Parts: sequence; C-alpha cells; structure tokens
Amino acid sequence: MRKKILTVVGARPQIIKAAAVSRAISGQFNSELHEVIVHTGQHYDEAMSQVFFNELGIPQPDYNLHVGSGSHGAQTALMLDGLEKLILSERPDAVLVYGDTNSTLAASLAASKMHLPVVHVEAGLRSFNKSMPEEINRIVCDHSSTLLFTPTQSGLQNLLNEGFKQFESERYSIDHPGIFLCGDVMFDNSMHYSNLAAKQSQILNRLQLDNKSPFILATIHRDNNTDDPQRLKSIFNSLFAVAEKTGMQIILPLHPRTKKMMAQVLEADLQQRIEKNDRIRLIEPASFLDMIQLESNSTLIITDSGGVQKEAYFFQKPCVILRPQTEWIELVNNGNAILADADSDRIQQAADVLLSKNDFTWPAFYGDAHAAEFICATINRYIG
Ligand code: UD1
Repeated sequence: MRKKILTVVGARPQIIKAAAVSRAISGQFNSELHEVIVHTGQHYDEAMSQVFFNELGIPQPDYNLHVGSGSHGAQTALMLDGLEKLILSERPDAVLVYGDTNSTLAASLAASKMHLPVVHVEAGLRSFNKSMPEEINRIVCDHSSTLLFTPTQSGLQNLLNEGFKQFESERYSIDHPGIFLCGDVMFDNSMHYSNLAAKQSQILNRLQLDNKSPFILATIHRDNNTDDPQRLKSIFNSLFAVAEKTGMQIILPLHPRTKKMMAQVLEADLQQRIEKNDRIRLIEPASFLDMIQLESNSTLIITDSGGVQKEAYFFQKPCVILRPQTEWIELVNNGNAILADADSDRIQQAADVLLSKNDFTWPAFYGDAHAAEFICATINRYIG
C-alpha cells in the first residue's frame, strides 16, 4: 500500500518548495507515496498563493483551512485546531512541512502531539536571532521532527550543535530523529523552471526591460523592516541613492504586508517621492516564473527574503541583504552577499562593493538539484 503523506503549506515560499517534492511524488515515487495537500490559508491573495499552484503544476490542495491573517497566536491556534481534526480524519503516515512559517509551526506541533512522524524540509537553519518569529518556528519544528532534511553544511552543523546525531537506523523516531544533508529543494526548482521562465514569462516585456539595460531587483517583506517606520524609511532612502548613483531602475515587487505598512507608516512626502521616482518601480507580487526571470536578468539583488538571497546565488547575482544576520551564512562568507541591515549607508556601500567586484566564485553550496528525489526515497525507506 502507498504511504500517505500529509503535506502542509500556507505561505508563498512553502507552496514553491512543495512543488519540487510533489513533482517527485507524482512522478518517480507514484507507486510508493501518496500525497494529500493541506493549505492553511495563511496566504490567501491570488498573487501570493493560487498563482503558484497553477504555474508550477502542483496538485490543488485537498483541503484549505482558510485561516487568513491574524496575530501569531490567533493564526497559529486556528491552524492547530484545523490540522488536528484533519490528521484524525486522514490518518496519514507522516506530516511533511517546509521552512519556518506559522504554518510549519502549527503542523509540526499538531502532528508530533498526535505521535505522528514530522518530516521537516529545510531543517537546521538558524539566524541566532530569536526575535524573528521564524527562528522560534524553526527550532520548535526541528525538535518535534522525526526526519530532518537540511539543505546546507551549516544547517547540518547547527543540528549537531543542538544535540542531534547523525546515525544509521531502521527506526527513526521523535526521540531518535534522523538528520540528512540533501541540498536545497529551491535549487531543484530554480534549475527545473528556469528554461520555462525564459520561454513563458512576459515580465521583462511588460516592464520594458528587454532592451538589456541593467536593472536591480529588490524585495522587502520582513516584519521588522516593514513595521518599523525608521527602518522602512532608511531602506527607501538607500534605494533612492543607489538608483541615482547607478542610473539603474530598481524593480520592487510589493508583498501585501509591505504595501499596507508603506501606506500606514511612511510620511506622505516620502510616499509621493517613491511614486514619482521613475527609477523605483513598484509592481504587484511576482509569480515564480516571473520572479526567476527577473532574478536571472538582474544585475544586483537587494532583499530581506531568505529565499531570494539564495535564488540570487543560483543565478550568480550578487546580493545586498537587508537584515542584520542570515541563515544562509555561506553566501556572506564566500563574498557573494553582504549583510547591510536597514542602514542606509551600509546598503549603499554594499551595492558599490558588489557592483564593482569581479572575482566572484559560485561553489555548489546547495546540492545537485536532486534534493526532492533524495527526500522522497528517504521518506519511503523510513516511514510507515
Ligand atoms: C510569512 C512568514 C515568513 C515568510 C513570508 C513569505 C510567518 C511568521 N512568516 O510572512 O517567514 O517569509 O510569509 O511571504 O509565518 N497579507 C495579505 N495577503 C496575503 C498574505 C498576507 O494581504 O495573501 C498581509 C496581511 O496584511 C497580513 C500580512 O500580510 O497580516 C502578513 O502576512 P503573514 O502571512 O502573517 O506574514 P508574512 O509577512 O507574509
């Protein structure tokens, strides 16, 4: 009998990560694994959710809990309640979760308390900053998982430092979990979809960027950047300065959180300056194919997103990170990215340094683009 895997997604990056494993389950592992997909409804806008199911060919979710936005406690509580009921009725062999969002946290708590094995993809990552909601989510999820798949050497080291052990067993459990270094499913995806993006995405046309003039891609969505007026202002001031100095356009797909907070916290004159500046171009959230088309054609990427930092690397673009620290520390140690926080001077300096540097190297930090197959084979071997 096929093993039933209950996959829980909720936020944009998880839907994209799930595409790689779903592809392997419905392809190579179709006779061994059966996937039931639950969407918590954490992200609900068309551009933050449905567009990825359509574009990446992920099966439509079997269930949607429609939890929507809310405080961390309220949002997570609704998910926990809904997931517990679903786990009871579906009786899966394991619950599969991705990354570090509130959806990850809720699913790992619900499943582990019901003595079901949790499979965590993107385990072991740490920013060592527990004021980030994602850091708490990662730690709780890792410590309630049975199979942990870490994408990087530094992720593996973090798990070892927290007491996890690498050992061979035929029976892993929550008390004796298995940890596996397997590469990054996002690398799988970026490689898998980049040709399709080049053929299908119309974003460069639409933005009139197909004349080969260089441009910068930027994203901002972390709560500590969007919800703090000083930080948000400082980031925009640095974007003005970088656009001015380089003469390049900055393309900024706007997360709904950022759009909402810009209207609430930025002074009217700054909002007007942003709207009037024709080098800073605010656009709707991009689909995955549009995003990788923008990334692979940009000259520099400025972001506070963990996923976008890495995609910059996959497409060999330098990156300014709008955070004080990163989970993807190898990018910084190897000189491909610079941590600039929300400090306007540091952001401008980092952009200068990266735009004038010409001795980058791009080692294979993120595996061989077959992480998803390894994950499915390992689940098939140890679960059930
Ligand atoms: C969440 C994750 C973050 C991930 C990000 C990717 C947590 C704690 N954070 O952050 O790790 O990097 O997703 O996008 O889980 N909103 C909409 N429409 C939507 C979704 C959100 O308008 O479809 C707005 C709402 O105003 C909401 C706010 O964005 O209150 C924040 O959404 P939420 O999912 O709570 O957090 P993200 O900032 O998206």
